[in-house]
Amino acid sequence: MKIAIVGLGYVGLPLCLQFARSGVSVVGLDIDPAKVNACNDGRSYIRHIPSEAIREQISSGRFAAAVDFDCIKAVEAVIICVPTPLNKNREPDISYIVSTGRTIAPHLTKGILVVLESTTYPGTTDEDLRQVLEAGSGLRAGVDFHLAFSPEREDPGNPASKVENIPKVVGGYTPACLERAKALYSQAIKTVVPVSSCRVAEATKLLENIFRGVNIALVNELKTVYTSMGIDVWEVINAAKTKPFGYMPFYPGPGLGGHCIPIDPFYLTWKAREYGKNTRFIELAGEINTAMPEYVVNRVAEALNVLHKPVNGSRILILGLAYKPNVDDDRESPSYHLMELLKQRGAEIAYYDPHVPVIRPSREHSHWAGTKSIPWNREAISSFDLVLIATAHDGVSYKELAEWANCIVDTRNVMTELRLPPGKVWKA
Ligand SMILES: NC(=O)c1ccc[n+]([C@@H]2O[C@H](COP(=O)([O-])OP(=O)(O)OC[C@H]3O[C@@H](n4cnc5c(N)ncnc54)[C@H](O)[C@@H]3O)[C@@H](O)[C@H]2O)c1
Repeated sequence: MKIAIVGLGYVGLPLCLQFARSGVSVVGLDIDPAKVNACNDGRSYIRHIPSEAIREQISSGRFAAAVDFDCIKAVEAVIICVPTPLNKNREPDISYIVSTGRTIAPHLTKGILVVLESTTYPGTTDEDLRQVLEAGSGLRAGVDFHLAFSPEREDPGNPASKVENIPKVVGGYTPACLERAKALYSQAIKTVVPVSSCRVAEATKLLENIFRGVNIALVNELKTVYTSMGIDVWEVINAAKTKPFGYMPFYPGPGLGGHCIPIDPFYLTWKAREYGKNTRFIELAGEINTAMPEYVVNRVAEALNVLHKPVNGSRILILGLAYKPNVDDDRESPSYHLMELLKQRGAEIAYYDPHVPVIRPSREHSHWAGTKSIPWNREAISSFDLVLIATAHDGVSYKELAEWANCIVDTRNVMTELRLPPGKVWKA
């Protein structure tokens, strides 16, 4: 079997490798020639995917990357894994899906299966994508070609989470589409979970991410309440999670980050308006979570105040730029919000992140592009008035940090076990 996977990013690349490992011939398509060349040279550009894993599949002959979409004529299935961001008005931007649809449509052949994996609102696959594919190919979905939606459940940086072991939800445009999609994924994924439509599959992914966003907001709010009562919210969560039923721990932090949780819930908010419905839980959670960087910055100001220092003119180090531990992905990272807010208050800002040696150019943070991580040594760390822990990477020595730093604000509860003298560490 030969398939094409469009979008060689955090979702598409591991999926290509998993299909190739399962004996399927995969061509990975991307508009970014740098990624295509890197794949074909066996060089990884994603930290948690080793180059060796790519080289193995390239040399097996089952994986190749290309920028030319002509090869779609010769494949049995196309899986689309392109970005779904929000635009500057925080509305869904499905332009990457639409443009992929326009590009692949003229190459579709009778009997081919097209699956969308990008997270999006219910109706994208059977309305927006279907219309583009039908218009550009002259074929009809469910009659001449098969169409399905299957959400990705990638957990970057978690070594225990392997693509083949994560159950895959699949919804088809017709029962026959579902059968084709089930047959495709069963070749590479152990458990396939069929649902009755593309819309149910789209809605399932949104439920999963909204659930996280809302629960993180809940513990973030409890953090501010309990802190003002002199109660440590992390101690409370650790005690609560000993309950063997009816409770699942979520942890507070400096704000939401990454390509999913800060963005996906608002795809539903936007679509719900079409049906005259409001998504109050989502909006409240968004409000609480986006207020977190400001809360953390106020804690920084309190900590500096005790040292008789104003934020203005203080040297502050942000520890961790990636949005979650042990990855190099800094998309939507709350660290950028913290850096902006502190800079606005006159602080001198630097960062340390072993996985992000230099800030890459991006649309959102162009003015930070080229800024480099400081080195990790006593002289560098002790030169800051305060270190703000935003992301708790495993590779960082928090013992050295405790020895070298003058004052620490900890948003991840990583310093607790070191039992430092009062006043040195502020939880935020
Ligand atoms: N990163 C995650 O952990 C994660 C988890 C679950 C779901 N998702 C969802 O999966 C989708 C992809 O996310 P990602 O993190 O892999 O994004 P990404 O930015 O890492 O990768 C997307 C890739 O698509 C390519 N691309 C863009 N437009 C294209 C086009 N027209 N034709 C071909 N290639 C094109 C880009 O060059 C890029 O390489 C999003 O909808 C996201 O919400 C991501």
